[in-house]
Amino acid sequence: MKDDTSHLSWDDWDELQSPRAETNGFDDVVDSAMNRRGFIGRVLAFGSGAAVMGTGLLNSSAAQAQVISRIGFTPIPTSTDATIHVPDGYNWRVVSKWGQPLFSDAAEFDHTTGGDVASSNRVFGENTDGMELFSVGSRQVIAVNNEYANPKLNLPHTKDGVPISANDVMKLQNLQGVTVMEVIEGNSGWDIVVDSPLNRRITHNTPMKITGPAAGHDLLMTSADPTGRTVLGTMNNCGAGKTPWGTYLTCEENFNGYFGSTDETFEKPADYARYGIGLEGRYAYEKFDARFDVSENPNEPHRFGYIVEIDPANPKSTPIKRTALGRFKHENAAVTLAPNGQVVVYMGDDERGEFMYKYISHGLYTPGGDTSSLLDDGQLYVAKFNDDLTGEWIALTPEATGMTAAEIAIFSRKAGSKVGATTMDRPEWVAVNPHAVECYCALTNNKNRGLKTNAGGDETPVQGPNPREANKYGQIVRWKPENDDHTSAGFTWDLYVMAGNPSVHNDTYAGSDNINAGNLFNSPDGMMFDSTGLLWIQTDGDDKNEGDFVGMGNNQMLAGDPVTGQIERFLTAPNGAEVTGLTWSSDRRTMFVGIQHPDAPFPDGEGKLARSSIVAIKRDDNAPVG
Ligand code: FEO
Ligand code: CA
Ligand code: CA
Repeated sequence: MKDDTSHLSWDDWDELQSPRAETNGFDDVVDSAMNRRGFIGRVLAFGSGAAVMGTGLLNSSAAQAQVISRIGFTPIPTSTDATIHVPDGYNWRVVSKWGQPLFSDAAEFDHTTGGDVASSNRVFGENTDGMELFSVGSRQVIAVNNEYANPKLNLPHTKDGVPISANDVMKLQNLQGVTVMEVIEGNSGWDIVVDSPLNRRITHNTPMKITGPAAGHDLLMTSADPTGRTVLGTMNNCGAGKTPWGTYLTCEENFNGYFGSTDETFEKPADYARYGIGLEGRYAYEKFDARFDVSENPNEPHRFGYIVEIDPANPKSTPIKRTALGRFKHENAAVTLAPNGQVVVYMGDDERGEFMYKYISHGLYTPGGDTSSLLDDGQLYVAKFNDDLTGEWIALTPEATGMTAAEIAIFSRKAGSKVGATTMDRPEWVAVNPHAVECYCALTNNKNRGLKTNAGGDETPVQGPNPREANKYGQIVRWKPENDDHTSAGFTWDLYVMAGNPSVHNDTYAGSDNINAGNLFNSPDGMMFDSTGLLWIQTDGDDKNEGDFVGMGNNQMLAGDPVTGQIERFLTAPNGAEVTGLTWSSDRRTMFVGIQHPDAPFPDGEGKLARSSIVAIKRDDNAPVG
């Protein structure tokens, strides 16, 4: 009998399917030893000689003085319970939860069955993740990702949630993807506007266009789509982004886990390995939907792993897969503009030892101008970090990689390996500071750092912004582009924070100097700046509150001052949940926060299923919250 792997995170499941090779290169050992010398002990690493930690980390009294002006809440302690906590003077209410109807013809959620299949694409999807709020005329619309489904909860009639019918598969497919919903604030808080003309579900079966360098390539052609230019669905939608022209970007992350083969003898194409595509999918889609059976449709996986652009103002619009932004396990898309109007998109590939990317449009954005090809015609780059706190973006061109433009778009990881990109500790969200020309990326953790290669066989030496072997806590790297221009190839970098636990460790695993007993956390993940320039940090880590993680409690959301390095805890989540997804109402008086995969009976209470939810957080005096 097979082990039940349904409880595993996506990255642990991936590792189980395709174990990584040990790193054992001699050069690697030397590299890491040299770097360890620079990071021995907390004092050496983060004292006066610790340029890597940046110049912003002032002594604690200076930082303390800044708290009053920059972080306007009283920090809260950790929690280990089944609900949400926020500071005094703030309140929270549920806006939407998994299974809640968007349309009046959908059935109310039945927690004993996990909901019914007929309603499953007419309700708020499961496992809320990245989101953005849009003002459409006088309406406020949230576009939000529904990253994955929990088959055990949705299919209680099955063993371990393994689908036994095409209907089961359809239900799971319908509960994932993207929800677009109008929301409105009434006397009892924010609610979904049921039957709003803007409400929409985008699922694993929604028709989409494919554009950019990979569109029409042989590797994207299937029997259902001989053009290689149309596709059904988007999946494992993780983080998000918003363009200056008012569209939503949804990012396909662990797409590999949806594919399998009904033919055990099927020989996988060589390119499957780098992306972790195996012969058995997590949801057994391949048994009931031939599109996901790679022995029937070996090119279908090449049509996922992209960023999809959605117009939330037009529910009839066709979403567009923008292949120029590369194919990998996309976390989010942090969009900004260069001084001349070129569009710059920063992106992380969330897998141990994978890379960070940016895209620069060839054309310029002008308000009201044609934006249709800004995310098609441009150049993709990959990041290389040097130990001297400099770095460069290397253009992934045919000349540099020996690959065609289409191959670079489809096999971006391979292109990055060819030019010597830096293997990172699982890049999650990138955030661009609205008040300074600088970016931050959450490197969530990497238990394999220094020990195992990435899936492409690249070594993962302890170096640069990845300074700890077997990194269990994570860190946030930031960089400033040369000439205050996001199109620059060169940049300087430092670490904004290294998470750690000074009550357990007295070496680099204690964390950086801006970690203290009052703000312990691990595994930074979601990250957004508010309009005042505070950095909001959401965690998706170990919440056992013991051993290396003692004193950290449940997952949480903290606010960081980018100038002083001060970090304070603002919110704690119910047991088991990660905090992911953050956006604001148009008047900035409400902060919407996503609570994903609680395992406590949140928010409906004892006897009810735990349901991923979006909550609205406000100040009691209704003043702005960022
Ligand atoms: Fe879906 Fe990397 O988080
Ligand atoms: Ca994430
Ligand atoms: Ca994560």
